[in-house]
Amino acid sequence: MSDYDSIAPFYDIEHAQFDEDLDMYRNFAELSGGKILELACGSGRLLLPLARDGFQVMGVDTSVAMLKLAEHALAEAGVGGRTQFEVASATGYTGRFDLICFFDCLHDMGDPVGAARHAREHLAPGGTVLLVEPFALDGRPRNIAENPMAAMMYVASASICTPNSLSQEVGLALGAQAGEARLRKVFEDAGFTHFRRAAQTPMNLILEARA
Ligand SMILES: C[S@@+](CC[C@H](N)C(=O)[O-])C[C@H]1O[C@@H](n2cnc3c(N)ncnc32)[C@H](O)[C@@H]1O
Repeated sequence: MSDYDSIAPFYDIEHAQFDEDLDMYRNFAELSGGKILELACGSGRLLLPLARDGFQVMGVDTSVAMLKLAEHALAEAGVGGRTQFEVASATGYTGRFDLICFFDCLHDMGDPVGAARHAREHLAPGGTVLLVEPFALDGRPRNIAENPMAAMMYVASASICTPNSLSQEVGLALGAQAGEARLRKVFEDAGFTHFRRAAQTPMNLILEARA
């Protein structure tokens, strides 16, 4: 059982109203021009608009309860036919994809390097990983002093994300305030040769990795 099974009934209360980021992800999907995997897709907040736009998407998550929410949301919107779901871990899915998205989930994983390596091995030639993580500045003292979201994010990370990571194999506990330099190291350790900040918002770092 995943820690997120017990959070699932409340997950959308926090996240359902936020849609300002969706156009940016639609642009990435259009540029990828092919098969899209959303890893750790949760309740389908991002899969739903992508499927509505006509993209073929696959959603993978270890939480059965989160995946059920996603399946229900997409079926209700009439786009279930464009979506595949698989209960699998970030190091256990199969297939090959032009775009693999990690939205707000890498830091929840016990083995982020293993997850990034598995993604590299399942990218189609020329494919891209889109990594979206909570905004954080490099270095904890600077992050606390200069990032107004930091205090709240450390609390959320300590109560949900870090225990979830510790409950899994490896248990790296990256935390939701890792910052770009630490995230880059995860992807370099996984064998990626290109890593760049594509964009940022006050809430998120939007990073792109290529093999
Ligand atoms: C904060 S939620 C993000 C959900 C979704 N991506 C979003 O942006 O709304 C984190 C998700 O990661 C999933 N997760 C955590 N560890 C995982 C792993 N090792 N493999 C696959 N999914 C995992 C959880 O079940 C949960 O659905």
